[in-house]
Amino acid sequence: MPVDLVAYSMPAREPPWQIDRGRALLEEMTARRSCRCFSDRPVDRQVLELALEIAHSAPSGANRKPWRFVVVDDPTLKKEIRIAAEAEERESYDRRMPRQWLDALEPIGTNWEKPFLEIAPYLVVVFRIDWEMSGEKRVKNYYPAESAGLACGFFLMACHMLGLATLTHTPSPMNFLHTILKRPAGEKPYLLIPVGYPADDCTVPDLRKKPLCEALQWNCSLGKQTNE
Ligand SMILES: Cc1cc2nc3c(=O)[nH]c(=O)nc-3n(C[C@H](O)[C@H](O)[C@H](O)COP(=O)(O)O)c2cc1C
Repeated sequence: MPVDLVAYSMPAREPPWQIDRGRALLEEMTARRSCRCFSDRPVDRQVLELALEIAHSAPSGANRKPWRFVVVDDPTLKKEIRIAAEAEERESYDRRMPRQWLDALEPIGTNWEKPFLEIAPYLVVVFRIDWEMSGEKRVKNYYPAESAGLACGFFLMACHMLGLATLTHTPSPMNFLHTILKRPAGEKPYLLIPVGYPADDCTVPDLRKKPLCEALQWNCSLGKQTNE
């Protein structure tokens, strides 16, 4: 059954306001970095909840919002997650990752140790929901991976704009999160995002970022380049 239609409009915004706002946003967002050294300074729960509300406003396939955000702040659970993540990461770094992958990670300087999983005040574990039960019926979701990715993008941006640091973490494989957090069968671990403030002595790798001109093309057609 189609739903009723409601009017939709946006606030009237034009250049130069759009340009100024865009530049300010660009400056703010390019200052975002993945944080691997967190402070244990507490985060106001309401601020985290606002960032999660913003994440939950993301578009989703067939409007299913096929994601679950499991917030972990219990020290015992965090420790359990750290132990399991480090066991998988140790195996990956020592045996599973091919040379090429290890070489790609070298400039970032990561290893199997993940102390931030216990130090960051919150771990937001995002699950994508491939299917769920509606009464007795198993209901499939559409584009769960793309939708969960968008929700995570909204979340990372919201945290950054609210002054909170995050890490996009993917201890691989992540099935231990399904077990530890007792998730139902249709939910698949998607990302593990520690959230908090950077430690006072936090550093990040001085990475070269691919410029937009290498990622952007206009009006592509074979044999023709128009993005000069
Ligand atoms: C899908 C995805 C998975 C990632 N997994 C990890 C991870 O497991 N551990 C980690 O330290 N960083 C991880 N990162 C963070 C990247 O290393 C980081 O985004 C990249 O080096 C660029 O640095 P920046 O986020 O500071 O700009 C991941 C990022 C993405 C998007």
